[in-house]
Amino acid sequence: MSEPRKILVTSALPYANGSIHLGHMLEYIQTDMWVRFQKHRGNQCIYVCADDAHGSAIMLRAEKEGITPEQLIANVQAEHSADFAEFLVDFDNFHSTHSEENRELSSQIYRKLRDAGHIATRSITQYFDPEKKMFLADRFIKGTCPKCGTQDQYGDNCEKCGATYAPTDLKDPKSAISGATPVLKDSQHFFFKLPDFQQMLQTWTRSGTLQDAVANKIAEWLDAGLQQWDISRDAPYFGFEIPDEPGKYFYVWLDAPIGYMASFKNLCERTPALDFDAFWGKDSTAELYHFIGKDIVNFHALFWPAMLEGSGYRKPTGINVHGYLTVNGQKMSKSRGTFIKARTYLDHLSPEYLRYYYASKLGRGVDDLDLNLEDFVQKVNSDLVGKVVNIASRCAGFIHKGNAGVLVAKNAAPELTEAFLAAAPSIADAYEARDFARAMREIMGLADRANAWIADKAPWSLNKQEGKQDEVQAICATGINLFRQLVIFLKPVLPLLATDAEAFLNVAPLTWNDHATLLADHQLNEFKPLMTRIDPVKVQAMSDASKEDLAASQTDTGQAAPAGNGELAKDPLSPEIEFDTFAAVDLRVALILKAEAVEGADKLLRLTLDIGDEQRNVFSGIKSAYPDPAKLEGRLTMMIANLKPRKMRFGISEGMVMAAGPGGEEIYLLSPDSGAKPGQRIK
Ligand code: MSP
Ligand code: ZN
Repeated sequence: MSEPRKILVTSALPYANGSIHLGHMLEYIQTDMWVRFQKHRGNQCIYVCADDAHGSAIMLRAEKEGITPEQLIANVQAEHSADFAEFLVDFDNFHSTHSEENRELSSQIYRKLRDAGHIATRSITQYFDPEKKMFLADRFIKGTCPKCGTQDQYGDNCEKCGATYAPTDLKDPKSAISGATPVLKDSQHFFFKLPDFQQMLQTWTRSGTLQDAVANKIAEWLDAGLQQWDISRDAPYFGFEIPDEPGKYFYVWLDAPIGYMASFKNLCERTPALDFDAFWGKDSTAELYHFIGKDIVNFHALFWPAMLEGSGYRKPTGINVHGYLTVNGQKMSKSRGTFIKARTYLDHLSPEYLRYYYASKLGRGVDDLDLNLEDFVQKVNSDLVGKVVNIASRCAGFIHKGNAGVLVAKNAAPELTEAFLAAAPSIADAYEARDFARAMREIMGLADRANAWIADKAPWSLNKQEGKQDEVQAICATGINLFRQLVIFLKPVLPLLATDAEAFLNVAPLTWNDHATLLADHQLNEFKPLMTRIDPVKVQAMSDASKEDLAASQTDTGQAAPAGNGELAKDPLSPEIEFDTFAAVDLRVALILKAEAVEGADKLLRLTLDIGDEQRNVFSGIKSAYPDPAKLEGRLTMMIANLKPRKMRFGISEGMVMAAGPGGEEIYLLSPDSGAKPGQRIK
């Protein structure tokens, strides 16, 4: 193994004027998984963040709530920290841009830029609210579009006709804050001379620091020529006063990225072994990565490296940009119940479901990522519960019952444990490249192989035979070892599952290199279910709780109501089908583990079916024939296992069981002859 790397990682600093939602979480989860991977591998990796606490939006919101900005940002910081912690986002430090460290660093960087001649001043004319006595940013001015005459248009563009203009072109302008008619007023502003860094940026943005798509976008801006950047705001403003310029404040985006340094500095002050300059000094050999969304690329790939260069600090090793989150294929929407706050999610569902889902869809590019709520349930249930956890739950019982929980020193599938070992470098490469989707695909491919092997060995059948106990123990010990290897590979994504698995396995916290060893002659602890299936009802409850605007949501559901839910195609004749069509139907023997009535549905039973390598939730309209559903438990039937999952009012139905008869009391569930095993295919 080579020397451990020294890595400093950041996520963008969330604004302190609002709650964290699942869009934000995409970024923090992505970063956290990468950081955990680095730590898992034995690298020194430090992850810092902070609240972005400055700006007029925060000042105005505090005013509205009748509290000071300091109180507001303290409240929000507590809320944000709790959200992140519960989503298992493990910052080494979560600070605030409204901190002494940040004030000092911002002043120092500004002075260095100024003394090196990179700051210009000139007077600009802007709208001023004579009642509030403040200059108005574009979004705080409303008026009539000069092009089409639509009223109530904000700032510098018309939502109706799409025209863009200067706020001073708006007819009948009004302050959106006080309603007063704004007046034009001059004021002295401070500018960062970005064009001084054109050359450096041209080289730096093409030196592997950016994804190609991002570098191309930046090249367009560079080709168009860089402008000076206005970094000052007039009082009243919530921020830091510019040194030697009373009444002038740093624009929030000037001190926000410096907040990365400030958070790290704050950590250094508490951690003697950490040296600030070793990470930020010009000659630092540490790696520095910023994870951000695609909307804030200009601040991170142009202004920020220029500020660092101009003030004598090192520049980032890489800016890792991700796309935007959509929910069910659309922008998050309050009326559709898809604007989901982190807290609302946590009220209903476990954080690891979302971490896994994001991981399974996150590539290294800047594409948007869709959280499809049906697919989410389906994927998590089938991969995590049906594949990964299933391995342990199938094997643990036999070891506890048959060998007092001692895992024997036998490897019944050396070719499989070898294959797991051989897959590790490729999985590690995928993590390193932030191609979490590929890492998850490869890991689930291994889980499939493990399940298929266990299904083939069928320890549950062997266990019923005389003299097969050694074989059963060898198979189950191997199964548990394969499970352990999967947990090691998944640990950056699923730290809680890993902790619970470590408790069951009775081992010290697992690290990446442990995947190369196997447990032998080892006492296991009691097995407790490591993860339960997502109940679609909870997902629905989360959406419902997210619907703030009820009236709007009613129209939405009206539009979105799926047609003919639950109805069969009413074709009077059965058309002939090709053999291939028949062969495409995955018919399986299913064991009814659980059968229960569904509250609020008079015809439906909810069936939990074991089809060998996984469990399925199926709703079936057979209640009229089986008024005492518990009697069905333990019997075998047949199901169509590859029917597209269907969302019903009570949850998602993952297949269909087969029954004959006209209906009512005359419904006859089909059964195979005795001897058939759950999961066997019907041919
Ligand atoms: N305060 C600035 C960042 C300053 S960094 C020196 C900011 N804050 S934010 O709260 O609006 O966004 C924080 C991060 O979350 C950004 O990287 C942003 O791109 C990301 N996201 C916000 N909404 C998002 C989605 N819907 N989807 C994915 N990421 C999103 O910008
Ligand atoms: Zn218009």
